[in-house]
Formats: sequence, C-alpha cells, structure tokens
Amino acid sequence: MKPLTNKHILLGVSGSISAYKAPDIIRRLQDLGAKVQVILTQGGAKFITEHALQSISQNQVHSNLWDKKAELAMGHIQLAKWADLILIAPTSANTLANIASGKACDLLSSVILASAAPLIIAPAMNQQMFKSNAVSGNLKTIASRNITIISPDDGAQACGDIGPGRLADANNIAAIVAQQFHTTELTGKNILITLGASVEAIDPVRYISNHSSGKMGMALVNNCIELGASVTCIYANIQTELNQRASNIQALSAKKMHKAVMENISKQDIFISCAAVADFSPKNIAKDKIKKNADDLKLILKPNPDILQDVCKLPKKPLTIGFAAETKNPLENAKLKLKNKGCDAIILNDVSGADFGLNVDENEVVFLSQNYQQKIAKTSKQKIAKKILEIFIRKFL
Ligand SMILES: Cc1cc2nc3c(=O)[nH]c(=O)nc-3n(C[C@H](O)[C@H](O)[C@H](O)COP(=O)(O)O)c2cc1C
Repeated sequence: MKPLTNKHILLGVSGSISAYKAPDIIRRLQDLGAKVQVILTQGGAKFITEHALQSISQNQVHSNLWDKKAELAMGHIQLAKWADLILIAPTSANTLANIASGKACDLLSSVILASAAPLIIAPAMNQQMFKSNAVSGNLKTIASRNITIISPDDGAQACGDIGPGRLADANNIAAIVAQQFHTTELTGKNILITLGASVEAIDPVRYISNHSSGKMGMALVNNCIELGASVTCIYANIQTELNQRASNIQALSAKKMHKAVMENISKQDIFISCAAVADFSPKNIAKDKIKKNADDLKLILKPNPDILQDVCKLPKKPLTIGFAAETKNPLENAKLKLKNKGCDAIILNDVSGADFGLNVDENEVVFLSQNYQQKIAKTSKQKIAKKILEIFIRKFL
C-alpha cells in the first residue's frame, strides 16, 4: 500500500521562480498514491502555466476566487473540504505574509482559512528576502500555529545569489507530506455506500418515498473516510450534509440507484447498502398531473430491481453489508435477509419504535453475520457507524 493512497492533496503554487518545479512535486505525490488538485496564484501563473499543471495533475487548475461558475456551488469551500492536506510549494514571501496575517485576498488564502486540513508550506525566495526581518517574523507566527514549514535548501539561486531560499527537493517534500498520514484500518480500500430515501414518481409532481434521512449512511461515509477509505456515496433523498471528501453521485429512484451502483461496483472492496430503496414503483408514471375526481385511484406497482441481491450475485462480489429495517419479527427477518441475499453482514434496524431508526439522530442496531450476532446499544448514529465498522473490520478484513 502506498502511503498516500486515496489521499487528497491540495497543492498551492505561488509566485516564486521555482514554481516551474511544481509538476515534479505533483508527480512525486502521485507516485505515493495521492490525488492532487492545484490552486495557482496570480504570481504563480507568471512562472508556470495552468496547462502544464492541469496535464500533470489530471485535474482542472483553480485560480480565481471570483469564478462565477465555481462559486455558484461555493467552490472555495468545496475545495477546502475536499483537501486531506494543503501543501504550498513553492510558498512566495507574499503568500507567506497572507497566511501569517490571516488574509483571504485570493483563492489560495481563502481556501486555507476555510479548511480544517493540516497545512504544510515550502518557502522559496531570494536568500536576502528569506533572511529579512519581515519574512523571519512571519515564519515565526506561522510556526506558532502548528503549520509545518519545510525549510528551503541552501545553495546557488536563480538570481545568482548563494544562500538559503531554494525550494526543498521534490522527493523530500513528498516524503514530509506522507509522514503526516499514518495508515489506518481502511487505508487504500474503496467503499461504495448508498443512502437516503428513494423517490418513485407517480406523476410530474407526486412521488412515493419513505422516512429515511440518510443520516446513518452519512455517518458510515464519514467514519470510512476517517479510517482512510476512498468512498463513493450514491445518495437519494437525504436530510443531511454531503461529505465533500467522498465522490458523491445523486440517484433518486431505485432504478437510477441500481444503475449508478452497477456502474461503480467493479472497483469496490466493500459495498454498504444503507439506502432505504422502495421495493415497488408505479408501473406507469403519468405524463401530466393526475386530476382529482370522485373515483378511487388505482396505482399499479411493479417490483424494483434488488440492488443488494444483484451486487451479491456478481462473480467478483465485494464484501457487502446490508441494512434490514424491520417492524415485525425483526431478528428472524434479518437472518432470512442475510441468507437470501447472500451478503456478508446485515445491520438490523428495528424501526417499530418512534425514536429509533428512520429520520432520528440516535439508533440501536444488531450486527449479524453468518455465525455472529452483536447488539449495539442506543447511541448516536456516528457512534453506531464507528462500532459497525469496528466489528466488520475485526471479522472480515
Ligand atoms: C522574476 C521574478 C522572480 C521572483 N521570484 C520570487 C521568489 O522566488 N520568491 C518570492 O517569494 N517572490 C518572488 N518574486 C516576487 C513574487 O512573484 C511577487 O511577490 C508576487 O506578487 C507573488 O504573488 P503570490 O504570492 O500571489 O503568488 C519574483 C518576481 C519576479 C519578477
């Protein structure tokens, strides 16, 4: 396993002559398994082109805080949340001053302020600039904030001077980034999680759905990411915030969710089916809004594809966890589901009580696998998710 497998590194490239070395830094990070996105400052763009950085990172380069399209979806906040770590290499004296004084004057400085991710800076500048009281003072301020500073190398500089200020070696920078991450139980694992309530249209304005909020699934997404996994989140109707570090795909109906899962399943190590998917959907969706009249309205429903079962039938099936929301004979029904669907574990969710299961913040579940049963007592969905994963990892990985 590579030390940066599935890690999201946001690389800031600012206006130092050594910005031409940024592609090499991207390559070294990718060699260690990282996914890299780049923010290029205005100064940085004088020394290296967006095209070069885009080609090497294989991602669109971000450079403008005032990008109308990106900011429609609060692009700078999304980038801030996407990052597992922010690296600024090279860091110019100007960008250093922005960080020290907490400015949000361009995209890079705004993202830094908006992100909870660890920050590493690699300053690069003329030796006299580096030794100046202003830069030394800014470095001191930055060091006091738990930001990692990669000291520049000493030697011959582009301007002809000799002294400290050369950008540190790309391999060393990548190694220091890798040191920030310790491998965790799910490092390198690809996990697909479905969540939320499916939405089955009756006519253009009405639909059949259920009370699932997606909170249990989202707690699993968050915990899997914390444990180092790369998560694909396929969501229907949800009452909770998406995790920007996951790859998020919306699929509202059972049919769309089935398609999205099947398109993404081949690369997955684990599939967690947490979505509350309708077993049936209207056979015909009325083209126009159904008009009110005095007669009974007959709605003919047809069975939906069974996502969990179809995943379990795949010749190279991932490890699978299903959820069983039951109101009657819960344990018996959940055991039956485990057997019939052929999945590795079932999480039984007894939803007969008003304060358990669907659309609430707490839950009480039973973890079931072929020869194992463990009750997880009532607690928050975040803690339930943590416990489910703990048991699953112990039993299956
Ligand atoms: C030829 C040239 C080379 C420069 N090299 C550096 C450098 O190595 N380090 C640095 O801090 N500033 C350097 N500067 C100054 C920065 O590019 C300038 O302060 C710029 O505004 C930085 O913008 P940014 O921090 O937004 O990227 C250089 C300027 C020029 C014209």
